[in-house]
Amino acid sequence: MKDIKENKTVKQLIDKLEKQKMLTKDEWVQVFTGWTEDDRGYAAQKARQISEAVFGKKVYIRGIVEFSNVCRNDCYYCGIRCSNSNANRYRLTDEEILSCCDEGYGYGFRTFVLQSGEDIKAFSPERVAEIVRRIKKAHPDCAVTLSLGELERDALVLLKQAGVDRYLLRHETANKEHYRKLHPEDMSFEHRMKCLETIKELGYQTGAGMMIGSPYQTAQCLADDMVFLGSFKPHMIGIGPFLPHKDTPFRDEPKGDYELTLFVLSLCRIMLPRVLLPATTALGTIRPNGREQGVLSGANVIMPNLSPTEVRKKYMLYDGKICTEDQSSECRLCVQARMKRIGYEVEISRGDYK
Ligand code: SAM
Ligand code: FES
Repeated sequence: MKDIKENKTVKQLIDKLEKQKMLTKDEWVQVFTGWTEDDRGYAAQKARQISEAVFGKKVYIRGIVEFSNVCRNDCYYCGIRCSNSNANRYRLTDEEILSCCDEGYGYGFRTFVLQSGEDIKAFSPERVAEIVRRIKKAHPDCAVTLSLGELERDALVLLKQAGVDRYLLRHETANKEHYRKLHPEDMSFEHRMKCLETIKELGYQTGAGMMIGSPYQTAQCLADDMVFLGSFKPHMIGIGPFLPHKDTPFRDEPKGDYELTLFVLSLCRIMLPRVLLPATTALGTIRPNGREQGVLSGANVIMPNLSPTEVRKKYMLYDGKICTEDQSSECRLCVQARMKRIGYEVEISRGDYK
């Protein structure tokens, strides 16, 4: 007998995602192999309706302080990998980190994101905990997010007790074979995933995420990412295009696809309506109005840079990173103007996951 089971169209699969909040791995593969620009527009429209229903025409802002570019890891894609001897390394002092937050508070930031390479030798969990306690004491109405890479459970417990609210740790890829192609042998897929589980279990608002178009990424890999995100249900998802850096093994690899990045943002919004979804700096780097288009595709968070201008060029994860010449006040105003132009407003609040 002839198999009469018909494949659904991508639009039908998007409708199914909206209703059931999940697709099977095969269905995701079909979405990522068969999508057209028309399908992307369809998803963006739905995603925008959902984010407007949940958040209104508002975006949350978070001030990001890149406090150290020293990293013990050697991820093949990243410009601050330990074997990049061209990287000009820096570490901010505790006072400098605190004064970035003080300055940011004045600009209306109510979340500070402290991000760095894996620099645990200089920034022990105890030291970071003390910095967080000082930020919280100075600004009790603010949330603190950490993005320091993989930590052991006892460190995560300590930091939670110090008052950290959120932790961002992109899973990078949910496909183990793909993970191996992006990272050297001494890094472990299982350890990263375990760390994410622990973060969530300890009660942090938890962020996962991946680059779009990282080398060797296939439709199967993206399908694995979407299945993982649908079951893990992070509170935040960081998604941006892969962009090459000249001093990495991936220097000659092509950039990730801009439209695919927007499409994946929309699919995440449809699957997890309340998720906190940044329009990332990488998205603003690949296209001058990438962050605006990200918001119009379902993103609801922007993370302007609060790092001192002198160090911004040194936190170069990929070539061409935007905002490296600007001052924090300029980024803050720039983001507000960009949002206004597309009819959105910056909201002054912690912007917790609800
Ligand atoms: N060390 C912490 C960690 O590993 O989570 C935080 C800093 S790490 C540099 C932040 C994120 O930058 C990574 O999770 C990765 O997805 C992203 N990133 C690194 N290199 C990139 C590149 N070449 N293009 C786009 N994003 C990149
Ligand atoms: Fe930094 Fe626009 S956000 S200059």
